[in-house]
Amino acid sequence: MLSALKKYLLLPKLVKLSSNAPKDPSVAWDEYWGGIGATGARGDVLWDSGSDHELQAYLEHLTRQLDPSLPVVDAGCGSGVFSRALAAHFPHVVGVDVSANAVARAAAESEGLERLSYMAADMTVPAGTRAVTEALTAAGYSGEANIFIRGVLHVLKKPAQAALAAQLHALVGKRGRVFLAETDFRGNPIQYVSHLGATLQSIPGPLEKAIRGLPMPGRFGTEQRRRAFPEANWDVVEDGPVTIETRPLTSADRPEQIPGYFAVLQAR
Ligand SMILES: C[S@@+](CC[C@H](N)C(=O)[O-])C[C@H]1O[C@@H](n2cnc3c(N)ncnc32)[C@H](O)[C@@H]1O
Repeated sequence: MLSALKKYLLLPKLVKLSSNAPKDPSVAWDEYWGGIGATGARGDVLWDSGSDHELQAYLEHLTRQLDPSLPVVDAGCGSGVFSRALAAHFPHVVGVDVSANAVARAAAESEGLERLSYMAADMTVPAGTRAVTEALTAAGYSGEANIFIRGVLHVLKKPAQAALAAQLHALVGKRGRVFLAETDFRGNPIQYVSHLGATLQSIPGPLEKAIRGLPMPGRFGTEQRRRAFPEANWDVVEDGPVTIETRPLTSADRPEQIPGYFAVLQAR
Protein backbone atom coordinates (compact mmCIF):
# COMPACT_ATOMS: atom_id res chain seq x y z
CA MET A 1 0.00 0.00 0.00
CA LEU A 2 2.76 2.41 1.01
CA SER A 3 4.81 1.60 -2.09
CA ALA A 4 1.73 2.13 -4.29
CA LEU A 5 1.25 5.55 -2.70
CA LYS A 6 4.94 6.34 -3.05
CA LYS A 7 4.69 5.69 -6.77
CA TYR A 8 2.27 8.58 -7.05
CA LEU A 9 4.93 10.94 -5.72
CA LEU A 10 6.49 10.41 -9.16
CA LEU A 11 3.71 12.45 -10.75
CA PRO A 12 5.17 15.95 -10.18
CA LYS A 13 8.53 14.69 -11.46
CA LEU A 14 6.91 13.37 -14.67
CA VAL A 15 4.92 16.57 -15.19
CA LYS A 16 8.07 18.67 -14.79
CA LEU A 17 10.15 16.47 -17.10
CA SER A 18 7.55 16.53 -19.87
CA SER A 19 6.67 20.22 -19.58
CA ASN A 20 9.14 21.35 -22.26
CA ALA A 21 8.29 18.70 -24.86
CA PRO A 22 7.31 20.31 -28.20
CA LYS A 23 3.53 20.54 -28.55
CA ASP A 24 3.56 19.62 -32.27
CA PRO A 25 4.13 15.82 -32.39
CA SER A 26 6.01 15.96 -35.73
CA VAL A 27 8.45 18.51 -34.30
CA ALA A 28 8.80 16.43 -31.12
CA TRP A 29 9.65 13.27 -33.09
CA ASP A 30 12.15 15.02 -35.32
CA GLU A 31 13.93 16.72 -32.40
CA TYR A 32 13.97 13.40 -30.53
CA TRP A 33 15.58 11.53 -33.45
CA GLY A 34 18.04 14.39 -34.01
CA GLY A 35 19.30 13.91 -30.44
CA ILE A 36 19.77 10.13 -30.53
CA GLY A 37 23.31 8.79 -30.12
CA ALA A 38 23.52 5.00 -30.29
CA THR A 39 20.67 2.57 -31.02
CA GLY A 40 20.35 -1.05 -29.84
CA ALA A 41 20.62 -2.70 -26.43
CA ARG A 42 23.06 -0.12 -25.05
CA GLY A 43 21.57 2.80 -26.92
CA ASP A 44 19.28 5.77 -26.29
CA VAL A 45 16.07 4.46 -27.88
CA LEU A 46 13.53 3.16 -25.36
CA TRP A 47 11.72 0.76 -27.76
CA ASP A 48 14.84 -0.71 -29.40
CA SER A 49 15.77 -3.92 -27.55
CA GLY A 50 18.75 -4.64 -29.80
CA SER A 51 17.45 -8.18 -30.27
CA ASP A 52 15.27 -9.83 -32.93
CA HIS A 53 13.40 -11.85 -30.30
CA GLU A 54 10.18 -9.81 -30.66
CA LEU A 55 10.29 -10.00 -34.45
CA GLN A 56 10.73 -13.77 -34.32
CA ALA A 57 7.35 -14.00 -32.57
CA TYR A 58 5.78 -11.90 -35.37
CA LEU A 59 7.32 -13.90 -38.22
CA GLU A 60 4.96 -16.80 -37.74
CA HIS A 61 2.00 -14.45 -38.42
CA LEU A 62 3.78 -12.42 -41.09
CA THR A 63 4.80 -15.42 -43.18
CA ARG A 64 1.40 -17.12 -42.80
CA GLN A 65 -0.86 -14.10 -43.30
CA LEU A 66 0.94 -11.68 -45.63
CA ASP A 67 1.43 -12.26 -49.36
CA PRO A 68 5.23 -12.68 -49.71
CA SER A 69 5.22 -11.41 -53.29
CA LEU A 70 4.09 -7.91 -52.20
CA PRO A 71 6.36 -5.16 -50.85
CA VAL A 72 6.03 -3.95 -47.26
CA VAL A 73 5.56 -0.39 -46.06
CA ASP A 74 7.01 -0.03 -42.54
CA ALA A 75 4.81 2.85 -41.33
CA GLY A 76 6.63 4.91 -38.66
CA CYS A 77 9.89 3.03 -39.21
CA GLY A 78 12.05 5.05 -36.80
CA SER A 79 15.66 3.82 -37.09
CA GLY A 80 14.58 1.10 -39.54
CA VAL A 81 15.39 -1.76 -37.19
CA PHE A 82 12.27 -3.70 -38.27
CA SER A 83 12.51 -2.57 -41.93
CA ARG A 84 15.94 -4.21 -42.20
CA ALA A 85 14.68 -7.46 -40.69
CA LEU A 86 11.59 -7.53 -42.95
CA ALA A 87 13.72 -7.09 -46.09
CA ALA A 88 14.87 -10.70 -45.65
CA HIS A 89 11.27 -11.92 -46.12
CA PHE A 90 9.68 -9.61 -48.71
CA PRO A 91 10.80 -8.35 -52.13
CA HIS A 92 11.09 -4.71 -51.05
CA VAL A 93 10.55 -2.65 -47.88
CA VAL A 94 9.81 1.09 -47.84
CA GLY A 95 10.41 2.55 -44.39
CA VAL A 96 8.37 5.72 -43.86
CA ASP A 97 8.61 8.13 -40.97
CA VAL A 98 7.31 11.62 -40.25
CA SER A 99 10.78 12.54 -38.95
CA ALA A 100 13.48 13.35 -41.52
CA ASN A 101 16.08 12.72 -38.78
CA ALA A 102 14.67 9.20 -38.24
CA VAL A 103 14.82 8.51 -41.97
CA ALA A 104 18.43 9.76 -42.19
CA ARG A 105 19.36 7.50 -39.27
CA ALA A 106 17.53 4.51 -40.83
CA ALA A 107 19.27 5.04 -44.19
CA ALA A 108 22.69 5.34 -42.52
CA GLU A 109 22.13 2.14 -40.51
CA SER A 110 21.00 0.31 -43.69
CA GLU A 111 23.91 1.30 -45.94
CA GLY A 112 24.83 -1.44 -48.40
CA LEU A 113 21.63 -3.42 -47.80
CA GLU A 114 19.40 -4.23 -50.74
CA ARG A 115 15.60 -4.21 -51.17
CA LEU A 116 15.21 -1.28 -48.79
CA SER A 117 14.36 2.37 -49.23
CA TYR A 118 13.31 5.12 -46.83
CA MET A 119 11.31 8.29 -47.08
CA ALA A 120 10.02 11.05 -44.82
CA ALA A 121 6.23 11.43 -44.93
CA ASP A 122 3.30 11.95 -42.59
CA MET A 123 1.25 8.75 -42.92
CA THR A 124 -1.90 10.38 -41.54
CA VAL A 125 -2.45 12.64 -44.58
CA PRO A 126 -3.23 11.93 -48.27
CA ALA A 127 -0.02 13.66 -49.44
CA GLY A 128 1.98 11.13 -47.38
CA THR A 129 0.17 8.16 -48.93
CA ARG A 130 0.63 9.61 -52.43
CA ALA A 131 4.38 9.94 -51.83
CA VAL A 132 4.53 6.33 -50.59
CA THR A 133 2.60 5.12 -53.67
CA GLU A 134 5.08 6.97 -55.90
CA ALA A 135 8.03 5.38 -54.07
CA LEU A 136 6.46 1.92 -54.50
CA THR A 137 5.88 2.57 -58.20
CA ALA A 138 9.49 3.74 -58.61
CA ALA A 139 10.61 0.47 -56.98
CA GLY A 140 8.58 -1.47 -59.56
CA TYR A 141 5.40 -2.16 -57.53
CA SER A 142 2.01 -0.63 -57.90
CA GLY A 143 -1.46 -0.96 -56.51
CA GLU A 144 -1.00 -3.18 -53.46
CA ALA A 145 1.35 -3.43 -50.48
CA ASN A 146 1.56 -5.02 -47.06
CA ILE A 147 1.83 -2.66 -44.10
CA PHE A 148 3.88 -3.25 -40.94
CA ILE A 149 3.29 -0.92 -37.97
CA ARG A 150 4.97 -1.39 -34.63
CA GLY A 151 4.68 1.03 -31.76
CA VAL A 152 3.14 3.90 -33.74
CA LEU A 153 -0.64 3.89 -33.20
CA HIS A 154 -0.32 3.99 -29.40
CA VAL A 155 1.59 7.29 -29.65
CA LEU A 156 -1.07 8.94 -31.84
CA LYS A 157 -4.20 10.71 -30.64
CA LYS A 158 -7.55 9.09 -31.59
CA PRO A 159 -8.20 11.29 -34.70
CA ALA A 160 -4.67 10.62 -35.99
CA GLN A 161 -5.10 6.87 -35.42
CA ALA A 162 -8.27 6.92 -37.54
CA ALA A 163 -6.60 9.13 -40.17
CA LEU A 164 -3.63 6.74 -40.43
CA ALA A 165 -5.93 3.72 -40.79
CA ALA A 166 -7.91 5.52 -43.52
CA GLN A 167 -4.69 6.23 -45.46
CA LEU A 168 -3.60 2.60 -45.18
CA HIS A 169 -6.90 1.45 -46.68
CA ALA A 170 -5.86 2.88 -50.04
CA LEU A 171 -2.35 1.43 -49.87
CA VAL A 172 -3.16 -2.23 -49.13
CA GLY A 173 -5.49 -2.78 -52.13
CA LYS A 174 -7.11 -6.22 -52.42
CA ARG A 175 -4.16 -8.49 -51.66
CA GLY A 176 -2.17 -6.43 -49.14
CA ARG A 177 -2.67 -6.77 -45.38
CA VAL A 178 -1.86 -4.68 -42.33
CA PHE A 179 0.15 -6.23 -39.49
CA LEU A 180 0.15 -4.03 -36.39
CA ALA A 181 1.81 -4.60 -33.02
CA GLU A 182 1.26 -2.04 -30.28
CA THR A 183 1.74 -1.43 -26.58
CA ASP A 184 -1.45 -2.29 -24.65
CA PHE A 185 -0.41 -1.62 -21.07
CA ARG A 186 -3.37 -1.62 -18.68
CA GLY A 187 -2.44 1.08 -16.22
CA ASN A 188 -1.93 4.79 -15.83
CA PRO A 189 1.25 6.66 -16.84
CA ILE A 190 2.76 6.33 -13.33
CA GLN A 191 2.24 2.57 -13.37
CA TYR A 192 3.67 2.47 -16.90
CA VAL A 193 6.90 4.30 -16.09
CA SER A 194 7.24 2.32 -12.82
CA HIS A 195 6.91 -0.89 -14.87
CA LEU A 196 9.86 0.39 -16.92
CA GLY A 197 12.06 1.00 -13.89
CA ALA A 198 11.29 4.61 -12.88
CA THR A 199 11.49 5.26 -9.13
CA LEU A 200 11.43 8.40 -7.02
CA GLN A 201 15.22 8.24 -6.94
CA SER A 202 15.99 7.64 -10.62
CA ILE A 203 14.58 7.16 -14.10
CA PRO A 204 16.47 5.02 -16.66
CA GLY A 205 18.13 7.30 -19.28
CA PRO A 206 16.26 6.13 -22.42
CA LEU A 207 12.93 6.38 -20.57
CA GLU A 208 13.75 9.88 -19.32
CA LYS A 209 14.71 10.95 -22.86
CA ALA A 210 11.31 9.80 -24.15
CA ILE A 211 9.40 11.49 -21.29
CA ARG A 212 11.28 14.77 -21.83
CA GLY A 213 10.74 15.03 -25.57
CA LEU A 214 7.85 12.93 -26.85
CA PRO A 215 4.04 12.91 -26.83
CA MET A 216 2.60 10.94 -23.91
CA PRO A 217 1.85 7.38 -25.14
CA GLY A 218 -1.49 5.63 -24.59
CA ARG A 219 -2.52 2.04 -25.14
CA PHE A 220 -3.73 0.36 -28.32
CA GLY A 221 -5.73 -2.84 -27.93
CA THR A 222 -8.94 -4.38 -29.30
CA GLU A 223 -11.14 -1.41 -28.39
CA GLN A 224 -8.80 1.16 -29.94
CA ARG A 225 -8.36 -1.02 -33.06
CA ARG A 226 -12.14 -1.30 -33.49
CA ARG A 227 -12.47 2.47 -33.40
CA ALA A 228 -9.54 3.23 -35.74
CA PHE A 229 -10.18 0.35 -38.19
CA PRO A 230 -14.01 0.17 -38.35
CA GLU A 231 -15.70 -3.09 -39.31
CA ALA A 232 -17.35 -1.41 -42.29
CA ASN A 233 -13.91 -1.00 -43.90
CA TRP A 234 -11.74 -3.76 -42.40
CA ASP A 235 -11.84 -7.50 -41.72
CA VAL A 236 -9.80 -8.81 -38.80
CA VAL A 237 -7.92 -11.84 -40.10
CA GLU A 238 -6.25 -12.58 -36.76
CA ASP A 239 -5.50 -10.75 -33.52
CA GLY A 240 -4.31 -11.41 -29.98
CA PRO A 241 -1.73 -10.62 -27.33
CA VAL A 242 1.99 -10.07 -27.98
CA THR A 243 4.92 -8.88 -25.91
CA ILE A 244 6.62 -5.63 -26.88
CA GLU A 245 10.28 -5.54 -25.84
CA THR A 246 12.24 -2.44 -24.91
CA ARG A 247 15.89 -1.70 -24.39
CA PRO A 248 17.15 -3.29 -21.16
CA LEU A 249 16.43 -0.78 -18.38
CA THR A 250 16.38 -2.59 -15.05
CA SER A 251 19.21 -5.00 -15.85
CA ALA A 252 22.25 -4.93 -18.13
CA ASP A 253 21.01 -7.26 -20.82
CA ARG A 254 17.39 -8.37 -20.32
CA PRO A 255 14.85 -6.34 -22.37
CA GLU A 256 11.81 -5.06 -20.44
CA GLN A 257 8.53 -6.60 -21.54
CA ILE A 258 5.32 -4.65 -22.10
CA PRO A 259 1.95 -6.34 -22.72
CA GLY A 260 0.96 -5.67 -26.32
CA TYR A 261 -1.68 -6.36 -28.96
CA PHE A 262 -1.30 -7.49 -32.56
CA ALA A 263 -3.76 -7.66 -35.43
CA VAL A 264 -3.71 -8.69 -39.06
CA LEU A 265 -6.26 -6.71 -41.06
CA GLN A 266 -7.58 -6.79 -44.59
CA ALA A 267 -9.41 -3.99 -46.39
CA ARG A 268 -13.05 -4.63 -47.30
C1 LIG B 1 7.81 4.48 -30.93
S1 LIG B 1 8.52 4.83 -32.47
C2 LIG B 1 8.56 3.23 -33.25
C3 LIG B 1 9.58 3.16 -34.37
C4 LIG B 1 9.67 1.80 -35.08
N1 LIG B 1 8.38 1.39 -35.62
C5 LIG B 1 10.20 0.75 -34.14
O1 LIG B 1 9.40 -0.07 -33.67
O2 LIG B 1 11.41 0.76 -33.87
C6 LIG B 1 7.18 5.64 -33.33
C7 LIG B 1 7.62 6.20 -34.69
O3 LIG B 1 6.48 6.68 -35.40
C8 LIG B 1 6.86 7.85 -36.10
N2 LIG B 1 5.63 8.61 -36.39
C9 LIG B 1 4.84 9.27 -35.51
N3 LIG B 1 3.82 9.86 -36.15
C10 LIG B 1 3.95 9.54 -37.48
C11 LIG B 1 3.20 9.87 -38.64
N4 LIG B 1 2.11 10.65 -38.57
N5 LIG B 1 3.62 9.40 -39.84
C12 LIG B 1 4.74 8.64 -39.92
N6 LIG B 1 5.50 8.30 -38.85
C13 LIG B 1 5.11 8.75 -37.63
C14 LIG B 1 7.83 8.53 -35.14
O4 LIG B 1 8.64 9.49 -35.77
C15 LIG B 1 8.61 7.34 -34.59
O5 LIG B 1 9.76 7.09 -35.35
